[in-house]
Amino acid sequence: MQEKLIRWYQDNHRDFPWRENDDPYRIWISEIMLQQTTTEAVIPYFERFMKVFPDVIALGKAPLDDVYKLWEGLGYYRRAKHLHETALLIKEKYDGHFPRDYQDILSLKGIGQYTAGAISSIAFHQCVPAVDGNVLRIISRLYLLDDNIALNKTQKKIYQIVEKLIQHQDASSFNQGLMDLGAMICRPLHPHCQLCPIQDDCQAYQHHQQDVLPVNIKKIRHQDIHYITGVITYQEKFLLLKNKEGLLENLYGFVQYDLESPYSFVERFHDEYGQDLQINCFIKDIKHVFTHRTWYMHIYHFELTQEMAGMYSLEQIAQLPISTAHQKVLKAFLKYQ
Ligand code: ADE
Repeated sequence: MQEKLIRWYQDNHRDFPWRENDDPYRIWISEIMLQQTTTEAVIPYFERFMKVFPDVIALGKAPLDDVYKLWEGLGYYRRAKHLHETALLIKEKYDGHFPRDYQDILSLKGIGQYTAGAISSIAFHQCVPAVDGNVLRIISRLYLLDDNIALNKTQKKIYQIVEKLIQHQDASSFNQGLMDLGAMICRPLHPHCQLCPIQDDCQAYQHHQQDVLPVNIKKIRHQDIHYITGVITYQEKFLLLKNKEGLLENLYGFVQYDLESPYSFVERFHDEYGQDLQINCFIKDIKHVFTHRTWYMHIYHFELTQEMAGMYSLEQIAQLPISTAHQKVLKAFLKYQ
């Protein structure tokens, strides 16, 4: 089975810019970008990133805002901060060379078991599993496992299965073969079993269970938050704040409070900044969905009676890292105008 998968990967793999060579820096950046993000979305970001920051030293030297700017729109912005911090650490602690040791890789910020496995196997050809959702699905089908893959104990069990399978194999092709098989053939819905290189080895296929497995029952708590979002202007300038923490740490955004009325917004803003706002008009309601959270932004235009710190022209705003949610707010405001 392993040999069939590896041969299939070598003949049929998808061409991605991060597959041009085994440079651990490129593999690392790509694997961080590919966390929670599709390959299609990552490609242009990866290419821009490599042009601007071709190596660890260039990345470590850059101002953090520049790293965020290249990340703008990709989401999960903490990844950008972790990359920057880790680039500096690699320069100091490892003399600018990406560490080879699996435990050292795993200890880096933003790198969990999956990413450490992907980097170790792809960049350094070490026989370590890289188990993500694709692999959980493929292994469930291959071995006809009906364990719930959302549970930690199932994930451990599958990790151990892959650990045995990967021994004495070309781990880079094996792991990436599983990734590509998961993306192209052994898909979540309507898998292309007729094209599968390991159909003969698949117990789900033999038992006609490929459209049933894997069992994946997630219990997630989803949070809805309603905000009054203020586009606050003085003449041609907009007030933007740099987030100090949270989901969008270090990104710039409009002021928003989880309040029920624009009048309470004015009071709260006065308490916080000592400045008076005039409510100009309601602009639009916008919904923005994050992984475990949905923002309902009720956007209003407020005007200041004098300029304050943190105000930017549209030209300046174009240079700042701003989350997709707040880009939508700005767009709605400009359209309304
Ligand atoms: N998803 C995560 N890592 C990947 C890789 N190296 N190639 C394709 N898809 C991936």
